[in-house]
Amino acid sequence: MDYKIAEQVLQEAVSDLQTISDFVRWTASSFEAAELCFGHGTDNAWDEAITLVLDTLKMQKSSDAGIFSCRLIHSEKQSIVDNVALRINDRVPLSYITNNAWFAGHEYYVDERVLIPRSPIAELIENHFEPWLLRSPKTILDLCTGSGCIALASAIAFPDAHVDGSDLSEDALSVARMNRENLHLEDHCELIQSDLFENLSGKKYDLIVSNPPYVDADDMASLPDEYHSEPALGLASGNDGLDITRQILAQAANHLTEGGILIVEVGNSAPALEEAFPNLPFTWLEFERGGEGVFLLEKEQL
Ligand SMILES: C[S@@+](CC[C@H](N)C(=O)[O-])C[C@H]1O[C@@H](n2cnc3c(N)ncnc32)[C@H](O)[C@@H]1O
Repeated sequence: MDYKIAEQVLQEAVSDLQTISDFVRWTASSFEAAELCFGHGTDNAWDEAITLVLDTLKMQKSSDAGIFSCRLIHSEKQSIVDNVALRINDRVPLSYITNNAWFAGHEYYVDERVLIPRSPIAELIENHFEPWLLRSPKTILDLCTGSGCIALASAIAFPDAHVDGSDLSEDALSVARMNRENLHLEDHCELIQSDLFENLSGKKYDLIVSNPPYVDADDMASLPDEYHSEPALGLASGNDGLDITRQILAQAANHLTEGGILIVEVGNSAPALEEAFPNLPFTWLEFERGGEGVFLLEKEQL
């Protein structure tokens, strides 16, 4: 995090630049020079610059392309420049600066109490988990729900299902409750504080889906600065990244209905999981928009 953008450069931007297009171009160049890590919603400086500028101006990405030639007032320029400084000098992930993230086509409030939504599971939800579900699920559990993104997007995708979202962290659940209210899903989604299945005794689900912590100790030690803004509870999972997943595998069958399925993201820890459980017939799911390390198991296979 040695590279800092100088105050003088920031003030030059406020005084010399005029249009939205000017600010997107300057922000992208500044991000390139700073060699930021992109991994929280965008994967390059240009997309991150567009998102920062439009989110700061409270404008949607789908706005008419003509808006890029619009001129900005002084306070708008200053807000963009302040956010660029936070992104570069403090390496704060963009979603924590704007308190905004998109997941499966829906907008979520996020802050440092929750992981920034980015799971490829979004694509499965958008596709209604086809072709993996034999019937429309009546009950769904999102274990380790964080911001509530998987639970709430699933509740929207399956309006007739009851969805539970659970998390160990009360802080995370406070954010999930805000999102549930913003998306008007109070009647469709229950949010439960629980250490994995501890407070879910007796409950059974047609679908259990989880993006649990799965970063191993080596990766935790070498995470880019941006990831240190995120709650460690949402990332770390023991030496091989599988502490939480082992517990999920041990207990999930008791909480699945007949024919129910379990879908879990383990990211880079997939090879370690295959090695640790050579007899489990994992199905590794594929994604059109990128992402890997998400397995599926049927109740009968657990
Ligand atoms: C990788 S984050 C995923 C958040 C969200 N599902 C998403 O995809 O953005 C993992 C979440 O697991 C929660 N967590 C960690 N240990 C847990 C445990 N033992 N029981 C329940 N939740 C736990 C963390 O608080 C964090 O919110």
